[in-house]
Amino acid sequence: MGLLNKMFGRSTKEEEIMTPEKLKIGIILGSTRQGRVSPQVGEWIKGIADKRGEANYEIVDIADYNLPFLGTTDGTEPGIAAWNEKLANLDGFVFIVQEYNHSITGALKNALDFAREGWNNKAAGIVSYGSTGGARAAEHLRGIMGELMIADVRVHPTLSLFTDFENGTEFKPAELHLDNVNAMLDQVIAWSGALKTLR
Ligand SMILES: Cc1cc2nc3c(=O)[nH]c(=O)nc-3n(C[C@H](O)[C@H](O)[C@H](O)COP(=O)(O)O)c2cc1C
Repeated sequence: MGLLNKMFGRSTKEEEIMTPEKLKIGIILGSTRQGRVSPQVGEWIKGIADKRGEANYEIVDIADYNLPFLGTTDGTEPGIAAWNEKLANLDGFVFIVQEYNHSITGALKNALDFAREGWNNKAAGIVSYGSTGGARAAEHLRGIMGELMIADVRVHPTLSLFTDFENGTEFKPAELHLDNVNAMLDQVIAWSGALKTLR
């Protein structure tokens, strides 16, 4: 409610259109195993993203939802509904992807399979890691995203288990990745905003 509102009697709806809500972007941790490094990578992305301030970023940890293996239960576990509700409330995603046997983790595939509308007409970026930067896993994820109607952006930071992690466990990213992460976020924000108009 501002001065203009008082002077011209603008409705709340009009004002909402003029000052849209910030986009909500989920940073999805793709691994769930004990000892995983994905939380370190996710927090690093969140730190960079929060400094930009143009959207609300949050870490979304698949492990928190205790999803069963798809089709092995009657589907009434509260985590399944909570997972779908979380996705429904997000406008875009950054997937933290690790390479397991040249693909994404079973946990991430299962979590992807557990939703449909929650993914549709949203944008996503990928940050991957592995011996070859997780590139093979990331390319598999792009194919899956096509089916789920997630628009995957081009810029893709790839982290090396050899040079961006100490002993493969302590995350120490090289400086050079920063520009790429920001470029990826630029694209995720642009497309998340554009696709919001379709939903
Ligand atoms: C089951 C399994 C398979 C893996 N296969 C690959 C692989 O094909 N290529 C690769 O670069 N790294 C592979 N790795 C190494 C992982 O990328 C590395 O352990 C990474 O830290 C896993 O991510 P996380 O710590 O978040 O679970 C594999 C690891 C596991 C546990």
